[in-house]
Amino acid sequence: MSKFKRTIMVTGGAGFIGSHLIRFFVKKYPDYKIVNVDKLTYAGNLENLTDIEKESNYEFVKADIVDAELMQKLFDEYKFDSVIHLAAESHVDRSITNPMEFIYTNIVGTANLLNAAKFHWKDNPEGKLFYHVSTDEVYGSLGETGFFLETTSYDPRSPYSASKASSDHLVRAYHHTFGLPIKISNCSNNYGSFQFPEKLIPLFIHNIKNNKPLPVYGKGENIRDWLWVNDHASAIDEIFHNGKMGETYNIGGHNEWTNIDLIKLLCKIMDEKLGRESGTSEKLISYVKDRAGHDLRYAIDSTKLQNDLGWKPSLQFEEGLRKTVGWYLDSSEWLNRVTSGAYQEYYEDQYEKR
Ligand code: NAD
Ligand code: DAU
Repeated sequence: MSKFKRTIMVTGGAGFIGSHLIRFFVKKYPDYKIVNVDKLTYAGNLENLTDIEKESNYEFVKADIVDAELMQKLFDEYKFDSVIHLAAESHVDRSITNPMEFIYTNIVGTANLLNAAKFHWKDNPEGKLFYHVSTDEVYGSLGETGFFLETTSYDPRSPYSASKASSDHLVRAYHHTFGLPIKISNCSNNYGSFQFPEKLIPLFIHNIKNNKPLPVYGKGENIRDWLWVNDHASAIDEIFHNGKMGETYNIGGHNEWTNIDLIKLLCKIMDEKLGRESGTSEKLISYVKDRAGHDLRYAIDSTKLQNDLGWKPSLQFEEGLRKTVGWYLDSSEWLNRVTSGAYQEYYEDQYEKR
């Protein structure tokens, strides 16, 4: 008999959102055992978890979710009663240059986990839960008005979002066909510490600091709905414990920004923090070739989560962005380490030819 009340497999726990979620759960639930299963791709970094790695309710296992046999073995060994599944290839631009990694990890990897859970829980589904962490991008692209609801039809338009949509469908299919206990959440764009600097906010902080051009895709008019990563973690906590089995919840903070407005705000904060004359960082803005198939607008309606479970975001955006900038400026060692080696090659491939 385990001394822990629950044993949770968290996949992708060394990544951006996964590391925040693990920190949140390890600290809040000392009676839960959290097993971080991560392949440690370029996006996974155990340094994201150094503050909690020695806690007695935390363990790391290096493993690839595409390895079906290994997933079954881990279920045998740890007797997981829950999975919180975050492991994924997550960057849209990389899915345009190399879709296959997305298909293996996001679709085949999810199917392997579903099979392992189905096999191990079939005789006793009571108290079990497969929680799938997904994205608002599965709903496609909005025009100037409207919001994504849980009932919005799926219309993914990049290899990344198509692979995530596919994994959502599989999770629901295992619930309907095999009675697997599942929950799904679809969240908007996250920002905060420990995000790999290929995504807009950390990339632009890094470039401003180093006086490098800020590559704005197209006209910078695309709109994203930004949520502080810890608020995503608190929403997952709420849904994990109190959400209804088989249901989907949208997570978002009603916080829409055009890319160019966000970038200008970021430039202003960076000028202040770096003691540069106002307007200095904006001069780095450089309009480049648009992302292929670039979705115009994402905007989440999270009324269901707010009304049914009482969740709400805790942080106002400008304050969150200031905190985030502060963290990156104080964490130059982390940033230097993750941007050395393979990152340089990626950067040249992605941007030098634009
Ligand atoms: P990330 O790229 O920062 O981290 C992904 C993690 O998964 C890394 O630690 C990586 O090593 C691991 N991983 C990748 N392939 C693996 C494999 N085959 N086996 C085991 N581990 C593997 O991603 P993120 O931004 O933290 O996103 C986490 C999840 O949340 C993803 O499922 C993503 O689709 C979803 N999501 C992200 C956002 C966002 O704004 N970042 C918003 C909504 C939903
Ligand atoms: O909406 C949730 C999704 O948000 C998650 O599912 C994804 O995993 C996550 O990566 C994010 O996807 P986006 O494509 O919206 O994020 P990204 O940071 O790559 O880009 C944000 C916006 O900024 C988008 O409109 C493209 C633009 N952009 C991005 C980069 C990297 C630029 O203009 N220049 C850039 O160099």
